[in-house]
Amino acid sequence: MPDDEKSKGGAGGTYTLACLCCDVELELALVYRCPNCSGALEPRHTLRGAARRDHETPERAYFDFLPLSSPDFLDDGITRRTPCRPAPDLGAAIGVPGLWTKDESRQPTGTTKDRLASVVLAVFRQFGIKEFVGSSTGNSSTALARAVRRDPAMRAHFFCGEDFVTNHDVPDHARTSLTVVPGTYVDASAKARRFAAEQGLHLDAGFFNWARREGLKLAYLEALDQMDRTPDVVVQGISSGMGLLAAHKGMREYLMTGAIDRMPRFLMVQEESCAPAATAWRQGRRELTAADRIDRPQGLATAILLGDGAPYYPYLYDIASQTGGAVVSASRRELVEARTMLRELEGLDVCYAAAATIAAVRNEAAAGRIGEDATVLVNLTGRSRTDVPA
Ligand SMILES: Cc1ncc(COP(=O)(O)O)c(C=O)c1O
Repeated sequence: MPDDEKSKGGAGGTYTLACLCCDVELELALVYRCPNCSGALEPRHTLRGAARRDHETPERAYFDFLPLSSPDFLDDGITRRTPCRPAPDLGAAIGVPGLWTKDESRQPTGTTKDRLASVVLAVFRQFGIKEFVGSSTGNSSTALARAVRRDPAMRAHFFCGEDFVTNHDVPDHARTSLTVVPGTYVDASAKARRFAAEQGLHLDAGFFNWARREGLKLAYLEALDQMDRTPDVVVQGISSGMGLLAAHKGMREYLMTGAIDRMPRFLMVQEESCAPAATAWRQGRRELTAADRIDRPQGLATAILLGDGAPYYPYLYDIASQTGGAVVSASRRELVEARTMLRELEGLDVCYAAAATIAAVRNEAAAGRIGEDATVLVNLTGRSRTDVPA
């Protein structure tokens, strides 16, 4: 092992876990909530000398930015480097000629969630976890299940709400199971939590699992290295918003290493039919209440139809307000138009949750909140494994 890898030390090396709310610092461990205030935790490191390495596996290329003590915990076949390129035709059509797309639909299971699966499993191996329980709106569980199938020492149990079964691709397998529960993603998460407690199994904490965010972050570090300038605006569709938090952490780290020179604005987008965070943002609120909850979310952008984002929204509010960003929504018609434009002008066939970014940029440009000279990076987080474009 080269010296710079060894210098990261034993399990987790010189990393600490810091609370995003009260800044308390803990030793790196597999805990997901701050013992003082229940806030979300994130791994931190001085990043002294951290740099991208020349390797085609993204996790190895960005090993210096991951809370892993050894690259041996990684599985090279889970993710791949994806294209990030200017989209001048689409950009011109929506009033932002400096548009760049990061095409995460090229990941093996079709979404950026493969990034999360790779790092979650590596961190689990580092901490000796061999069996876990999880839930998602579909794409995270699909990615995690594939990663589990590749590791003969790993087992997982996934739960999903009945409305989201078609979003899951978790084939029957001796080491992975999918249990469908009546209700939504929120009901499935509650069931997963109970099952994990009853069976004494590790629960993957979703948004609060910092390893997920460390994996998702790599799409952004990779994009920044592929771009020839720092983006002014970064855009992503949000469900829990863990991808957005991951993006923000990636940008903070690249500011620390000097790879970028300023923090972009973060623009987050939901579908209008299920947009509690966008509504709260418009009203200037930092909290979501029970009245904001949407019990049976409906819409085209199935991957981001989360009816209860209360535990996550304050983190998104903070990022939007600190960076001069916003949380917005896009209508069904705008999503359909955006997806069609992506296909016709750029040859990119992505899902509605990804196309929502283009709808948001188009609306913000039309309203004069994104200038014609802005460089805008949109994360096309995935493609659909099921639906056909409307
Ligand atoms: C394709 C796609 N895009 C975006 C998201 C947003 O996820 P989150 O905000 O939880 O990171 C998801 C979540 O499942 C997704 O599958």
